[in-house]
Amino acid sequence: MSRSPMVVRTVPALRRAVEALRGRKAATALVPTMGALHDGHVSLVRLARRRAQRVIVSIFVNPTQFAPSEDFGSYPRTWKADVAKLAAEKVDLIWHPDVKTMYPDGFATRIVPEGPATAGLEDRFRPHFFGGVATVVGKLFTQCRPDFAIFGEKDFQQLRVVAQMARDLDLGVKVIGSRTVRERDGLAMSSRNVYLSPEERRAAPELYRVMKEAARRIRAGEEIKPAVAGGAELIEQAGFKLDYLEVRHAETLTPIASIKDGPLRMLVAARLGTTRLIDNIAV
Ligand code: PAF
Repeated sequence: MSRSPMVVRTVPALRRAVEALRGRKAATALVPTMGALHDGHVSLVRLARRRAQRVIVSIFVNPTQFAPSEDFGSYPRTWKADVAKLAAEKVDLIWHPDVKTMYPDGFATRIVPEGPATAGLEDRFRPHFFGGVATVVGKLFTQCRPDFAIFGEKDFQQLRVVAQMARDLDLGVKVIGSRTVRERDGLAMSSRNVYLSPEERRAAPELYRVMKEAARRIRAGEEIKPAVAGGAELIEQAGFKLDYLEVRHAETLTPIASIKDGPLRMLVAARLGTTRLIDNIAV
């Protein structure tokens, strides 16, 4: 049986634990999560391990990135299973603060990201989201002071937002993106996939299939606009309510008209019943 990682819940204990972990200049990598860990998170931890001798995983369901109408209260919380998974990966430290520790009474400072955070993708549908993410990730970076931080490419706009923030604020953390891990049928792994009914689960991989076909058509010479419009129609026909299907510049996330102006990224968000799915691929 693997030994359980050390769990810390207060900032002073975290500081002591991080100091001890760094020892004589061991590199550290942080994997920020909200728990409900799946194989996608495990792949982030493994990438962290390849980059650094010491791996810290934070588990904190961050209230400031949820709107009042969203699923903060019902977000899956699977603490015991999460710790077992991290123990199997020989993670060194789990940072597991409670809400009062992260946002004590009187907390009044918020990071307001721009650039990729205002690209008109997720921010159009979840205007509160990137302010909450940037604020909590900014805190996680200053609390854990990692050399590297690993984020999944599945939340592609989030990855761009935190990389930009780390650069802009000289946080001294190298942000690294990790490839999306998919189920066998192509559905991107997500903690929210547990919300899908069996029927919705069968329809869900259509998002990835349609994106791959639209990307293939663009690479084969079709213009972006009709390829995306065709894809959007197929997604709606499969029973989704589409928020967006867009092709953007892969670095800046600005709109793009031609494959010549690449590199390109295709991004989608759509709802199946009450579950909102997001995904993206390189074009
Ligand atoms: O991607 C997530 O799980 C969250 O947005 C993050 C980065 C842990 C911040 O709460």
